[in-house]
Amino acid sequence: MKALILSGGHGTRLRPLTYSQQKQLIPVANKPVLFYAIEDVIEAGVREIGIILGPNKEQVIETVRSANWDANIEFIYQGEPKGLAHAILCAEEFLDNEEFVMYLGDNILRNGIIEHAKRFKELNPDALILLTEVEEPQRFGVAELDEKGRVKRLIEKPKAPPSNYALVGVYFFKPVIIEACKNIKPSWRNELEITDAIQWLIDNGYRVEASIVTGWWKDTGKPEDILEANSLVLDEIEEKIDGLVENSRIMGRVVIEEGAKVMNSVVKGPCIIGRNSRIVNSYIGPYTSIGKDCIVEGTEIEDSVIMDGSVIMNVGRLVECLVGRNVRIVEENSKPKGYRFVLGDNSSVVL
Ligand code: DAU
Repeated sequence: MKALILSGGHGTRLRPLTYSQQKQLIPVANKPVLFYAIEDVIEAGVREIGIILGPNKEQVIETVRSANWDANIEFIYQGEPKGLAHAILCAEEFLDNEEFVMYLGDNILRNGIIEHAKRFKELNPDALILLTEVEEPQRFGVAELDEKGRVKRLIEKPKAPPSNYALVGVYFFKPVIIEACKNIKPSWRNELEITDAIQWLIDNGYRVEASIVTGWWKDTGKPEDILEANSLVLDEIEEKIDGLVENSRIMGRVVIEEGAKVMNSVVKGPCIIGRNSRIVNSYIGPYTSIGKDCIVEGTEIEDSVIMDGSVIMNVGRLVECLVGRNVRIVEENSKPKGYRFVLGDNSSVVL
């Protein structure tokens, strides 16, 4: 089986971060979200992976190539994001009439996809979709099931959802999905929707089965989703102190990467402090990921993601913050007194 991982799209709901960074590269527990998808498909035994690229294609290629993978990875340029079914059509040559798993590169599943890959093999349907019950089904594709639990209908982001079963961003397909993608029309949002392609399979007598996801699942589409995914992943990390700790108190499961220094501080896990970062006179609280090459001084941080190269000095207490790369947040004693900001478009500051 092959895998198609989607790493295109504009990520508008994550602006301003996504002006300069492809959304699937945003780190969760100091690892790009996209890497979780790559790891899951490799763990399920896939060795041929195609990655769909969009606007920031060089960034994705460079990041993926910076790691060693036990698989062949090919990059497929989609250009403008014209929908998930459009992405499949762009990959027609790569897929080469074989069955495949499609994994949305901004999704994270706690338990990976092994059990669903097995179910796809056992049931041998034309498509296997993954479902999970959610509180806000209108944010997702939603499945309507019949009394026997079979998939009857799929609707993309319905105003009046027929059930609480959201489509998780992992799909297993036989090659007939290509024909389905060629036979559908763009939706109201002008995209070739994968839900419409799967509905085409159902309407044309093909067999579509569902598999229920146990364990958590996160679509990291919005800032609060990134913070939540970060907490969920950190909840399961194992303690590992490779950096230097001086005159500090470390509590709970904490990862301090090589070259990092923690001085005169309190660090309470679960949290991670990235390579070559410096934490001085500070408190780093639970569910915080500090990227590499950061400086945190005289500050308390909790429930936050601070990306590589950022500097935070003497700013009191930060909670539930998503801070991009090379950001500087400092308190200075200069005049005039008051907040001084340089904020990009679509930034959000809550004081
Ligand atoms: O996350 C699950 C949901 O994903 C499903 O419940 C929905 O049925 C499905 O349509 C999808 O909805 P989203 O609105 O979340 O899709 P989004 O536009 O965010 O795209 C999903 C991923 O695929 C994201 O990583 C960007 C990438 N993408 C998206 C489009 C439209 C591409 O690579 N190319 C594209 O053309």
